[in-house]
Amino acid sequence: MTSERQGLWVTLEGGDGSGKTTQAALLAGWLEARGRAVLHTREPGGSEVGVLIRDIVLHHRGDIAPRAEALLYAADRAHHVATVVRPALQRGDVVIQDRYLDSSVAYQGAGRVLDADEVRSLSLWATEGELPDLTVLLDLDPSQARRRLDAEDKPFDRLEAEQEEFHTRVREGYLRLAEAEPERFLVVDATGDAEDIATLIRARLSVLL
Ligand code: TYD
Repeated sequence: MTSERQGLWVTLEGGDGSGKTTQAALLAGWLEARGRAVLHTREPGGSEVGVLIRDIVLHHRGDIAPRAEALLYAADRAHHVATVVRPALQRGDVVIQDRYLDSSVAYQGAGRVLDADEVRSLSLWATEGELPDLTVLLDLDPSQARRRLDAEDKPFDRLEAEQEEFHTRVREGYLRLAEAEPERFLVVDATGDAEDIATLIRARLSVLL
């Protein structure tokens, strides 16, 4: 945590369809009811520049070289932290963020081309070493996540269309990250009821508030 940080920074991680958006909304509502200023943001795409980068990484037709893809996510992150997240934390807001550097390590690392430690170092360079106070990992079996996404009946983006083994490696990558930093991570079983999951998150956050 940086010395100027007044607020609290919570990131939500997990595979596609694990319920991050629902939990972010529940958490924001709870915090606002307690009088906290909340900024809900996301990566990729939490800034104006980020929206442009998001369009490239998620909707570009055709391949993007793995290192180029990792750099695009890192560029989005660098700009997002510098212009959105850090100012909000300095104001004293609670920042609730869908995805951060753990997404890069889990997803870009799962492609087997890039080294997970290098991907993490790249993001840490991009953000001058900023790490969240709490990272909630919504852990879900990829086949169950797929069923949820199918039920939504929306077209898949580039990464959602990846094969199931890829998503299994993403999940394993996340669980390794959580094991390595238990003080930063809260791992919850995303198959549970949304309200029950929200209660677990609140309990952990209460200690930090
Ligand atoms: P997101 O908009 O959170 O989609 P969803 O709501 O389906 O979770 O994320 C978009 C995709 O971007 C998601 O498949 C994961 C991927 N991603 C990476 O591969 N690396 C990253 O660093 C980030 C932030 C996201």
